[in-house]
Order: sequence, then C-alpha cells, then structure tokens
Amino acid sequence: MSATTSDLSAVKQPVATANGLPNAHYTDPQVFELECDRLLKQKWAGLDVAASVPEVGDAKPITFLGVPLLIVRGRDDTVRVFQNICRHRGMVLVDAPRKIEGAIRCPYHSWCYGTDGRLVATPHVGGPGQNTHEAIDRSTLGLIEVRSHIWNGVIFVNISGDAAPFEEEFAELLERWREFEVPVYHGGQDSIIRFDLKSNWKLVIENYCESYHLPWVHPGLNSYSRLEDHYHIEEPGKFSGQGTYVYRQIEDEDGSKFPDFPDLSEKWDTAGEYITFLPNVMVGVQRDHMFAIILKPESVDRTIETAHLFYASPQTSDSLRAKNAELWYVVFEEDIMAVEGMQIGRNAPGFDGGRFSPAMDGPTHLFHTWVAETFDAGQKLAAAE
Ligand code: FES
Ligand SMILES: [Fe+2]
Repeated sequence: MSATTSDLSAVKQPVATANGLPNAHYTDPQVFELECDRLLKQKWAGLDVAASVPEVGDAKPITFLGVPLLIVRGRDDTVRVFQNICRHRGMVLVDAPRKIEGAIRCPYHSWCYGTDGRLVATPHVGGPGQNTHEAIDRSTLGLIEVRSHIWNGVIFVNISGDAAPFEEEFAELLERWREFEVPVYHGGQDSIIRFDLKSNWKLVIENYCESYHLPWVHPGLNSYSRLEDHYHIEEPGKFSGQGTYVYRQIEDEDGSKFPDFPDLSEKWDTAGEYITFLPNVMVGVQRDHMFAIILKPESVDRTIETAHLFYASPQTSDSLRAKNAELWYVVFEEDIMAVEGMQIGRNAPGFDGGRFSPAMDGPTHLFHTWVAETFDAGQKLAAAE
C-alpha cells in the first residue's frame, strides 16, 4: 500500500483508542499535494486579509498552494481575487504589490484589464494599428476570478470553485460567534506577526486546538489563565478549539483599555475562544480584540504563519496595540518549539501517529478525524472519476 492510499481507519477511532495521522501526512511530498487539493483547494481556505489592499486600486500578488493569485481592490471598493495570469499567453501579470493606475497591464504584449477583471485593451491584436480582431472576443477573456468571501476582514478563497457557500460551510461556527460579526479594524503594520516555520501546516492547528500544553509551553499566560480555566470546544466534522473563562484585558500605563466590541453578552466579560476555521485559519475572539492566524503551506515541512490583530475601533492607542502585539508574539513564538519538534518527530519510522489523552486532546483528535475523513472522501471521489 502506498503512502498516498494509506489506511486512516486508526485515526477515525474514538479518542481513547485512536492513533494520530501517519507520518506520511507530515513528510511525504505526494501526500502534501493530495492534501493541498482535497483539504485546501476544494474547501474555503484563508488567503490573506482585506487590509493588505487598503485602498482602491491596490493589488497584491500571492502564490497560494502553488497557484499564482492576485488580490485587487477594485474601483467599486470590492476586493476580488483573480488568477494572476494574462489570458493571452499566460504571462504573470503583477509581480509585486502596487497601486493600479488605470488598468492592469500585462508586461508582455500590453493587454489591459480593469480592476474588476474585464479585458479592456488588446493593442495591435489585429495587426499593427488594429486593436481588435474578430476572433478575440474581449467579453470572454477577462481575468479568471477565484471564488472569494470576506469574513471579519479575512479573505477566504475556494480555488476549486465548487465548495458549498461560505455561510453554509461554516454555519455552526458563524452562529456561535454571531456577536462578533461587527465592524473590525486591522491594527496596521504593527499588528501583524509572522513566522516561517519548519513544520507541516497541520501541526500548528493541532497545537492550537488544545490547552493541555499551557503550563509548560506558556508559563506567562498560564499564570493567570490556568489549565483548569479552559474548556474544550468540539463540533465533530465542523470545528474544534478551546476557550478560557478568564480572559484579562490589557491596560496601558494610565489604566486605559481597548474599547469593547459593541453589545456583547455577559459571557464575553471574561471569556475568550480560540477556534479554527478549517482548514487553515485560526481565530481568537475576546471582548476587545480578535486575531486571525492564516497558515500558508509552502511545502510538506514548511509553513508561513501570519497573525493579524483586529480591534473594535479604527483609532486605538499605538502603545496599547504594540503591547498587545508583543503579548501575542510571545505566546505564538513559544509554540514554535512544539510544532517544529513534532515535525522532526514525524521522521521517526517507529512513530505510529501517537495517542491522545481522552481527557485533554479531544479537540486535536477531532481535527485529525476531519483530516482523515476529508482526505478519504477526496480519494473516493478521485477513484470514481
Ligand atoms: S501574454 Fe499578456 S499580453 Fe501577451
Ligand atoms: Fe500554545
């Protein structure tokens, strides 16, 4: 049996008896490619934040799962995602973030596209001085748009184009966090935390799901939000994560705090919740800020992790924002040794995927089960085709 058709039934057992995903899911480039297809391209995956293109005309190229994409804020202020290629000879259109003045002009033969993707100019396409040709119907040759959806400032894309609508796919989670669907404001450059990890992307989520590691990996955080202050969040087949009953707001020197999101229920006076929008966006919500961590898998053992902090107001104190970013930087950085250490461990041939603590690892096992089921469903689909 090849690694790409490995039997994942041991993963789908109840948490007390299950094994984790086999090593190949962390070390085999072929399995990585299959996962990119089945777990990421066919789902709604996080790409970036809308704040990356803050002004009309801003364009940002980004290669995601090997696909060259272009994020553009159009003249109508709508953020769209396109495949970053010209419909003529497939030249890459934009190679660095920039402001589009007028149109997106292909650097090869100057075909031009509007910021909404329409093909608007085809110079000399009918011969010198002839800018049209009957065979070239501009209306059918616009940029290829990628299905996208923005939730609380995070851009999700469904590259395959055939996932269920975003609201349907994440219905239960959106319902749980309905109170946080309010205007949120990205904190700017000083509210972005980025790591280049020597780890498979899934290990970052597996670690994020559970609070079990808190006492040893996050002694600072654990000093006020202890292991026993946490609860598991488990919705089989949908999402998992953890919450705390004792979120504590940070204060500036003068005692000032971030403003709260409006109209939150009492639960959020002290609670914070940390859940993954499967597959690759880890979101944390608290009364006065939220964060979204987007994982960009680069290869089977390398991942770019980018966290963005959002607030309830566009005007927040610089020093308080810096303090908050520093606080989260410390926490996220503390996790690196765990995820990179587990990645090294996946090269040990004797490792059988490991075992889960039935009391503490439920949310992580739930993620493994989701991966195994989604991977196998994709395999069945591929076999039927
Ligand atoms: S490839 Fe873009 S205009 Fe020729
Ligand atoms: Fe952690």
